[in-house]
Amino acid sequence: MKKITLFLLFAAVIACKNQPAEDGKSASAFSISETVFGKIDSTTITEYTLTNPAGMKVSILNYGGTVTKIITKDKAGKDGDVILGFDSLSGYLQKGNPYFGCLVGRYANRIAKGNFTLDGKTYQLAINNGANALHGGLKGYDKVIWKVQKLTGDSSLQFTYHSPDGEEGYPGNVDATVIYSLTAANELKIEYAAKTDKATPINLTNHCYFNLSAGTDTTIEQHELQLSANEYTPVDTGLIPTGKLAPVKGTPMDFTSAKLIGKDLPQVLGGYDHNWVLNKKGNALAKIGTLYHAASGRYVDVFTTEPGIQFYSGNFLDGTLTNTKAGKKYVQHAGLCLETQHFPNSPNEPSFPNTILKPDETYHHATVYQFGVR
Ligand code: GLA
Repeated sequence: MKKITLFLLFAAVIACKNQPAEDGKSASAFSISETVFGKIDSTTITEYTLTNPAGMKVSILNYGGTVTKIITKDKAGKDGDVILGFDSLSGYLQKGNPYFGCLVGRYANRIAKGNFTLDGKTYQLAINNGANALHGGLKGYDKVIWKVQKLTGDSSLQFTYHSPDGEEGYPGNVDATVIYSLTAANELKIEYAAKTDKATPINLTNHCYFNLSAGTDTTIEQHELQLSANEYTPVDTGLIPTGKLAPVKGTPMDFTSAKLIGKDLPQVLGGYDHNWVLNKKGNALAKIGTLYHAASGRYVDVFTTEPGIQFYSGNFLDGTLTNTKAGKKYVQHAGLCLETQHFPNSPNEPSFPNTILKPDETYHHATVYQFGVR
């Protein structure tokens, strides 16, 4: 009996899968396509494009696990690409690429003086941001080639990278896995996992620069942001947290209710580039914020398992990048990042949530960007 029910269910699923839609295409339209994006030495750089039945598209490179395009509809049903990026591989390889769309690791954000002590041993990381280490060093996970595997179901790609012991000064061999999925509900889901053979700091994130106007607005000042965070981590002039948590209430850092980014931006010296302490407790996936652009109607809801988010308002963009999409000038604040993560400099701040991964543990992080219109 059970077998028959299962068989009927299976037959129904197959029938449903093969049913032609009115336009003659299959009703179930998840797909993954591949195009050659260029070459680094003898390695082919491939751009993979995930498409869901609603027609949303996400493109990703094996170079840096870099998201090159996110194509979503506006409220009039018109497709647009909602992230900044380049039109070619040479764009991504240029000096000063500000981490467009890439995966960031082994430790996203800053570690003061690139220095930390673990089990009585002091480690010195590569210094690449003033006096500090930023985003995994000179050649972080954003600048390496990941192995890519299509997962069954045509909606997910698995990226793996083996980071050797001592890479950029970090202890331990790390095996990192990132699964990018595009769901029927217009969610870009990013699931991170890592194992190590020696205790090491781990903090992985993605560095997409959103501009939901899809090329219409030159800056993100007309975007509204809401973040479920009553506190943030104040920083020194090198953007290293002081170690204290400060309330956002009554300050330009307050995004507890949706607010136009341009409203208080001029009051923040250098622009927003801070870590917000999310109100959520524990490591369950929870909704922590929304970015909304009224003119296009596009919004993105952000869900994460992480305790923090770096909201960076594209302060260092200065219009000088070349090979940009459609030759656009990416001026200051042309895009913004919502980097779900642990707090910066955690290895040196015992009061911050732990970022040290031990050999008997597995690092997990999931973040979902769900797109819609209203
Ligand atoms: C992060 C940092 C910024 C900047 C960008 C890359 O978001 O917090 O200060 O370094 O990356 O340009």
